[in-house]
Amino acid sequence: MKDGHRSFYTGSFAKKMVESVQNNGGIWSEEDLNRYKVLEREPVRSTYKGISIIAPGLPSSGGLVLSNALNILAGYELDKLSPTTQKHLIIESLRRAYYERALKMGDPDFMDNTLEFLLTPSYAAKQRESLNINYATDNQTLEFADPPYQGQGNDTTHFAVIDKFGNRVAVTQSINFWFGSAFVPKGTGVLLNNEMDDFSIKPGTENGYGLIGYDANAVEPRKRMLSSMTPTFLESDRGFVILGTPGGSRIISMILLATLEWINGGDAKSMVSLPRFHHQYHPDYVLYEEEAFMSSEIDELESMGHIFKKSNRQFGNMQIITWDQENNKIEVASDPRGKEKSREEVY
Ligand code: DON
Repeated sequence: MKDGHRSFYTGSFAKKMVESVQNNGGIWSEEDLNRYKVLEREPVRSTYKGISIIAPGLPSSGGLVLSNALNILAGYELDKLSPTTQKHLIIESLRRAYYERALKMGDPDFMDNTLEFLLTPSYAAKQRESLNINYATDNQTLEFADPPYQGQGNDTTHFAVIDKFGNRVAVTQSINFWFGSAFVPKGTGVLLNNEMDDFSIKPGTENGYGLIGYDANAVEPRKRMLSSMTPTFLESDRGFVILGTPGGSRIISMILLATLEWINGGDAKSMVSLPRFHHQYHPDYVLYEEEAFMSSEIDELESMGHIFKKSNRQFGNMQIITWDQENNKIEVASDPRGKEKSREEVY
C-alpha cells in the first residue's frame, strides 16, 4: 500500500508471484504484470421513466444490459398490466438484452464498433417487434445481427458508501469464484482470482454461470474479460440510490428488479428483500427463488412457453443506500440473504 502500484506489479514482489505461478504450472510472465494498468472508463448513462441510471460501461456488461432491458420495458405501461404479464415482459426483456451480451459485448479496446445503439429507443422498439405479450420467444427465432462464428478463423463483494458531503461510491469487486483460483503464490499472501472464466473460452460454450459468448469476448492477449458487475446510481426527483450486489450473471437482473421496485415507490429494505428471478437468454429458462412466483403464475407463464427452474438457493447479497430528497433522509439496507447464512446457502 505504501509504495503503490509499482511495488505490486513490478520488481521483487511481482517476480515472486510469477515464479510461484510458473512453478505450479501457470503461464504468467513478468511482462504480463509489468504492463498491467488500471483504466478509468466512462459509465453508461440512461434514463427510464424519469430516473437517471448510471452504471458501468464495458468491459462490464452491466450498464448496457440493464439499460437495454429497461429501454425494452419502456415500451409498455407495466403498472397497467397484471403481475404475471409484468413478469413475462421482464423475462423477455432480459432474454433480449443478455442475447446482445452473448453476441456483441467484450473489452471495448478490442471492438471496432460501439454498442451505443443498445441505448436508443429505436433499437428497443425493434427488439419489441419479436416480443409477443402472450408467449415466450423461442431463442432460435432471435436473429443474429452478425453471424457470431463462421467455422474456422477466427468472491465478489459490493459496498455502497456516502459521506457527509454527499460524495457517493458504488463498488463491486470480484475474484470470481469462491477463493478465486484457490491459489496464493508462495510468500506473497495474495489470493489469485479466476476471472479467466468471465471470458468465452470457445464459441457458444458455457462458463461457470452458464453464460455463452463469441468473438467479442474471446480470450486474447492484453484483453479484459466481460463482466456482469453493476455498481449503480439511480437518480430522480425522489432522491438517489447507491446499489450493487454479487451474483455472477444474475447481478444485472437483480439490479433491474431493484430499480423497478424503487420506481414503484419501494424503499431500500424492500429493494434488497424482493424475491428474485432471472433470465439470461441462454440457458433458456427462468431461474427463480421460491417466493418469486405463485404456482398459478408459473402455470400461466408456462402455458405462455416459459421454462422454469427453481434455484436451490437464494441469490445475491445486495447493499443499498437511498437518499430521500424531500425529507433529506438516508436509509441503508443489507440483503437479508447475506445475514446469518453460510456462503453455501447464498450465491
Ligand atoms: O465480473 C463478473 O461478472 C463476475 N466475476 C462476478 C462474479 C460474482 O459475482 C461471484 N459472486 N457470487
